[in-house]
Amino acid sequence: MDEPIELAVIIPTYNEADNVEPLLDRLKIALAGISWEAIFVDDDSPDGTADAVRAIAQRDRRVRLIQRIERRGLSSACVEGVLSSAAPYLAVIDGDLQHDERLLPEMLRKLKHERLDIVVGSRYVPGGGVGDWSDRRRFFSRIAGQAAKFILKADLKDPMSGFFLMRRVAFDPAVRKLTQQGFKILLDLFASTPAPLTFAAVPYVFRRRQHGESKLDSMAAWEYGMLLIDKLVGRLVPSRFILFGLVGGVGIFVHLAALGAALYAGIPFTIAQSIAALIAMTSNFAVNNVITYRDRRLSGWRFLTGLLSFYLACSIGAVANVAVASLIYAQNYAWWLAALAGALVGAVWNYALSSCYTWRRR
Ligand code: GDD
Ligand code: MN
Repeated sequence: MDEPIELAVIIPTYNEADNVEPLLDRLKIALAGISWEAIFVDDDSPDGTADAVRAIAQRDRRVRLIQRIERRGLSSACVEGVLSSAAPYLAVIDGDLQHDERLLPEMLRKLKHERLDIVVGSRYVPGGGVGDWSDRRRFFSRIAGQAAKFILKADLKDPMSGFFLMRRVAFDPAVRKLTQQGFKILLDLFASTPAPLTFAAVPYVFRRRQHGESKLDSMAAWEYGMLLIDKLVGRLVPSRFILFGLVGGVGIFVHLAALGAALYAGIPFTIAQSIAALIAMTSNFAVNNVITYRDRRLSGWRFLTGLLSFYLACSIGAVANVAVASLIYAQNYAWWLAALAGALVGAVWNYALSSCYTWRRR
């Protein structure tokens, strides 16, 4: 029988075809003397990353591939890679050579000797660094790191790191609680674990990318925001509802401003309230489309049909809105109080219907 595999190296990839072979060559050198396997988790990259992995796997049984169809996501890729392996020790490393694979043996040794749950490759401890990042990227990395402190139970210096090595027994209790959203698998893990994780950091310097390009974009930033909200309040209310509520809150001011202007122009209250509701609805739609439902964003023709369906779905809400507001206004209450009550009734309708119809999952 073959020697059992001790360390599984999970490598999420999207369009990294040119990096596969160089990375494996480096892993072979770095992991000499360790019984290891490499598991690539590729999201059906159009550049043929999966074929590149298979070609090598034909020659080397330590190399495996999970090819996911119509799926995207760094975190979920890592999770599935971990779950596909039986190894007691699991490393996660980027597939683009930006992480220093030479640290893996030291990380494994440290994990075992110090009986830790996880050893994190860190750019923000002495000896580590981010290399030649732009000021903008440094800035956003710092902000994201600060935000992470709110949801973390541990004093991690680099919670954004995508480079770490952990014990399977530390991963298993958290796996069902992970949001699996976006890029921040490590943060997700630390925020989701039922019992605090014992950990240590080893410094590394983030290398420059040689082939391909970064996939960290505004969508990744959005997913990060959703992860933060989810970890803060997700147990009570869905994070999407929170965003919808915030957008709606801003919409109330849009509504009040429009209503105030219309009344100032001498338009009768019921008509003014209707116009204000329409304006607020349109702006709420546009803002929700880029923030709340960024992952299901409607564009082009769909934007228009989506807007129409939003109007339609909310028309009941709008009728209730105007009716409630008019009723209260007729009781001689202040115009803004009447408007607020109407808008609130409308908002409840908006959320319920729009998430079912306008931005339904495809
Ligand atoms: N399967 C899969 N699916 N893999 C993905 C996806 C995806 O949707 N998106 C990115 N990857 C892979 C890339 O192919 C690469 O191997 C690795 O995940 C990291 O992605 P990059 O796009 O190179 O990220 P980066 O270098 O900009 O970001 C790095 O720094 C971040 C913190 O600043 C990464 O190390 C991140 O993990 C880290 O959070
Ligand atoms: Mn990268």
